[in-house]
Amino acid sequence: MCGIFGCVLHDGSQAAPLIHAALKRLEYRGYDSVGEVTIDGDKLTVKKDSGRLEEVHAKYDLDDLPGPVGVGHTRWATHGRPVYENSHPLVDCKSRIAVVHNGIIQNYLDIKRELESKGHHFQSRTDTEVVPHLVEDYLTQGMSLEEAFRKTVNRLEGAYAIVLTSTEQPKTILCARQESPLVLGIGEGEYYCGSDFAAFLPLTRKAVLLDEGEMAVLNPNGARILKLKNAAPVKRDPITITWDPESAKKQGFKHFMLKEIHEQAQSLRDALRTEQLYYDQFAKKIIEADKMFIVACGTSYHAGLVGSLALAKLAGINARVVVASEFSEEALDLVGPKSVILAISQSGETMDTLNAVRDARAKGATILSVLNVLGSTLMRLSTVYIDQNAGPEIGVASTKAFTSQIAVLLRLASTVGRRKGEVSAKEITELEAELHRVPALIQTILNTKIDEIRRIAEECDAASSICFLGRGVNVPTALEGRLKLLELSYVPAIAYPAGESKHGFIALIEEGFPVIFVAPKDETHKRIIGNIMEMKARGARVISIIEEGDEEIRNLSDRVVEIGESLPSLVTPLVYVVPMQLLAYYLSVIKGHDPDYPRNLAKSVTVE
Ligand code: M6R
Repeated sequence: MCGIFGCVLHDGSQAAPLIHAALKRLEYRGYDSVGEVTIDGDKLTVKKDSGRLEEVHAKYDLDDLPGPVGVGHTRWATHGRPVYENSHPLVDCKSRIAVVHNGIIQNYLDIKRELESKGHHFQSRTDTEVVPHLVEDYLTQGMSLEEAFRKTVNRLEGAYAIVLTSTEQPKTILCARQESPLVLGIGEGEYYCGSDFAAFLPLTRKAVLLDEGEMAVLNPNGARILKLKNAAPVKRDPITITWDPESAKKQGFKHFMLKEIHEQAQSLRDALRTEQLYYDQFAKKIIEADKMFIVACGTSYHAGLVGSLALAKLAGINARVVVASEFSEEALDLVGPKSVILAISQSGETMDTLNAVRDARAKGATILSVLNVLGSTLMRLSTVYIDQNAGPEIGVASTKAFTSQIAVLLRLASTVGRRKGEVSAKEITELEAELHRVPALIQTILNTKIDEIRRIAEECDAASSICFLGRGVNVPTALEGRLKLLELSYVPAIAYPAGESKHGFIALIEEGFPVIFVAPKDETHKRIIGNIMEMKARGARVISIIEEGDEEIRNLSDRVVEIGESLPSLVTPLVYVVPMQLLAYYLSVIKGHDPDYPRNLAKSVTVE
């Protein structure tokens, strides 16, 4: 997730200060590097570097770029580390075309090879840089800038919002989108584009939405939209945005957490896009290792538990999951040069995780990591890493990072399984196909279940404690449901493997005690029904997250949240966790807390 802003202003105006101000409003979308380009006649000037906006501004004075047309970008790195060369804008060989991009271009390697063989010289390790070079290539074949851009974008696979500016047409900005967001702003003879309304809200409240598969041409004559496929013109009336600047950043959601819960369909698609070659590198190291440990904290630890189970089931790998702060006591003595440590951390800066990794490195272990922040300390300590591609997570309670971590870990387990031949190729292919169904299933929950879950939250408001129970791969889901609920609502919550609950926890049950069961229709179904009956018989108020049409559990429960379709067991945590994220969110709001900034917690825990 990156932030983009572009503007075409009246002649004689200066775009740069406006771009700077817009990037400030967009910084929440990414902040590991920043860049601006402006066009002044036949002069294209770029200023960019790694670091946050104000650091880069202090170094280069972003505001003194000349000209009324320009584009800015604040980056959340996906391809290529956050260093100067990889910062946007990226330019063609002759620095006549500059491009910024938000998203992932999946087939960039093929295009890059093709262009390199034609003599194009690349300066970055980004996927984005193929765009200016391909446009340049089409221009040399005699196409107009607009046609070259359209043809280029039509060759891209993946998710993108792309904005291009060029000395070829110095008063024009071209932009296009597929999956990644981009909206147009209509001023008084001035035109803007941005990743969201926040980008241009102080400049205009008139906006035009760009749909998937569309491009737009912005110039002093107006904003023209056309279909990428066939250049057919599209007529669309502007809408008026009534949001205040703060809710524009949250895209109309009341809190970042709610926005991030809703982003999960997209963040999962992005997580699933990572090239297979990274998984192959991981798999090779895991298969060669004599021991494997997974280290993480909090939510990332719960994702690690799912990952460990998947590695066992799909690949016969025994990966021991250790809470990072306990690693030196619990596991360090067992670590040697042939060990592999898989560290999972959204921020890549959690001190306990870093300490575990440093200790293991000192003993010669190979460090693999799953992380969401390129350039983080964990990335630098890792032998190889996989980027979750979830985009910045601002809410302190981790939501979209959890689901994208699990998606990455399931793909990893299936890759190791495939290479080891533990599971049939058919089974693995099926599992991977099921993973791709998850974003739509999550979207359905978000579209249809919110009211129901809010009501359940209201009914839980008076509870002095709440319990979460699951079995198998959904023990970690229950643990995650509990963590979300206690960190946001401050209600003491308990989570257990459902079967273990009768060995102690059941003593707490009295009339009306809320017990939430994560109960998909998988191989644990029969046994979890037994656990539900045990709780019910003692007066528990049973709330079950079940597969649609599961009458058996529905009849035993006081409330159910139904999940649309049947899924393979290993995939269920990705979907079944969403109602629990929403439950925690609404309970926090009902109690008058701020779910984005729960008390005593920090987004990144950088102390031991
Ligand atoms: O950035 P990390 O993934 O390393 O963070 C780990 C935990 O601090 C984090 O998951 C924490 O538990 C969250 N607040 C949970 O919502």
